[in-house]
Amino acid sequence: MFRYHKPIERNASLLLVLILIVVSIGGLVEIAPLFTIETTIEKVRGMRPYSPLELAGRNIYVREGCYTCHSQMIRSFRDEVERYGHYSLAAESMYDHPFQWGSKRNGPDLARVGGRYSNDWHAAHMIDPRAVVPESIMPSYGWLATAPLAFDDVAEHLKTNRAVGVPYDEAMIEAAASDLAAQADPNADHAALLARYPKALVGDFDGKPTEVTELDAMIAYLQMLGTLVEFEAPQQAGAQNAPKE
Ligand code: HEC
Repeated sequence: MFRYHKPIERNASLLLVLILIVVSIGGLVEIAPLFTIETTIEKVRGMRPYSPLELAGRNIYVREGCYTCHSQMIRSFRDEVERYGHYSLAAESMYDHPFQWGSKRNGPDLARVGGRYSNDWHAAHMIDPRAVVPESIMPSYGWLATAPLAFDDVAEHLKTNRAVGVPYDEAMIEAAASDLAAQADPNADHAALLARYPKALVGDFDGKPTEVTELDAMIAYLQMLGTLVEFEAPQQAGAQNAPKE
């Protein structure tokens, strides 16, 4: 076999031409199918932009660098699907700017952590991870519980996201601050908020109903992660489940 390969290896131009041929075949096989479909993002039911409170929580998540230890992308491997639930779909991060996929996992993937624990668990865990998971190496983020959430500029954050393609409409931007306050207030009227942001979890998140803290926003965000898209069957059943169209 080497007999045939030797002349190629000794002739740089021939080697280059053959490499180009091989690479273009590979390229065509990968790229050509993309021209026959309208979008690479699958159609799913249930996806919506983040509510203002969730978006505020997400901003804090990015600010605190949670992505340095946590990914938000479940790969389509059996071990991942069994541990975390249905593998992540492109549609689930289409409103993420910046996305939080990552491959750094000092801690578990968080793409579907929503609903896995109670609000109280999250509050205790963020304030002192070792209070609920004794062997945890996660840092404490206790200041989130005392820092009041600054949200007078939340409408601007929605607008900025709209500039990069997230479908926030005028009504959403206008009501951003009041929607945020309503989501964190157990006694508010939530009808308008829920019409704009279906499935948004409302109420007090951090155990202090009279204040809106950064921890409220963080928990509202964590609790919705991976919960929007409707799957045919329970997520634990694994990779075979197609998302509803
Ligand atoms: C130095 C690495 C590190 C950083 C930074 C970090 N975490 Fe963690 N996190 C971990 C580890 C390790 C665990 C697993 C042990 C535990 O549950 O505490 C974990 C667990 C979690 C869990 C529970 C996940 C599950 O499925 O059990 C959540 C939620 C979480 N982290 C959120 C956050 C948030 C939000 C931030 C940013 C404010 C953050 N983490 C920053 C390391 C980290």
